[in-house]
Amino acid sequence: MALVTFEGIDGCGKSTQIEMLKTYLKKKNVEFSVFREPGGTSIGEQIRQILLNRDNTDMSAKTEFLLYAASRAQLVEKEVKPRLERGEFVILDRYIDSSVAYQGFGRKLGKRMVVLINEFATEVLYPDLTFYLEIDEETFKKRVRSSGDRMESEGWDFMERVIKGYEFLSKSRRFVKIDSRLSQDRIFNYIIREIESHFSF
Ligand code: TYD
Repeated sequence: MALVTFEGIDGCGKSTQIEMLKTYLKKKNVEFSVFREPGGTSIGEQIRQILLNRDNTDMSAKTEFLLYAASRAQLVEKEVKPRLERGEFVILDRYIDSSVAYQGFGRKLGKRMVVLINEFATEVLYPDLTFYLEIDEETFKKRVRSSGDRMESEGWDFMERVIKGYEFLSKSRRFVKIDSRLSQDRIFNYIIREIESHFSF
């Protein structure tokens, strides 16, 4: 039925919003599934371990990028597409846009190649709607611990480039940008309003 994704830099509050959306969809008796990236499948979760392991300090940017794409290819083929074909509602905690922002802009691999490989990996499956929870530097620094995983231990310079990537992406019509400093309830009301205006349950 529909593919909805959540995006934003680490600590933006995506998980809380996804939990609130799950409760809402259950109440409405909507058939839905939620997957996280990287991961969401058994093979994808194994790839996730490699990607987020802090010991893997010498991972090349290209290797990192291809591993994210590999996890995504597995998830889309084995879980997402079959569900969409059955008419289900699928929610993804991160998707292609994360690779454009983190690998394309953050790691400077460039948007073009990232999009091209991801279109191959997903057979050009794009979301219907993407919620981007925007976060400022101060909030980011407060929320993310320095002892986080391999990606979270990147510095502010890296994150600034990632944010620039998201800013670029948010010009697309499927993007809904939300200020993550708003209260959880206000953010959620905003999300529901958008969902109800796009899909009928
Ligand atoms: P996770 O713990 O799931 O973070 P979050 O709760 O912020 O989503 O870790 C995923 C990390 O991987 C996160 O730092 C973003 C990064 N990432 C990429 O760099 N590229 C990608 O394509 C994806 C899906 C995630």
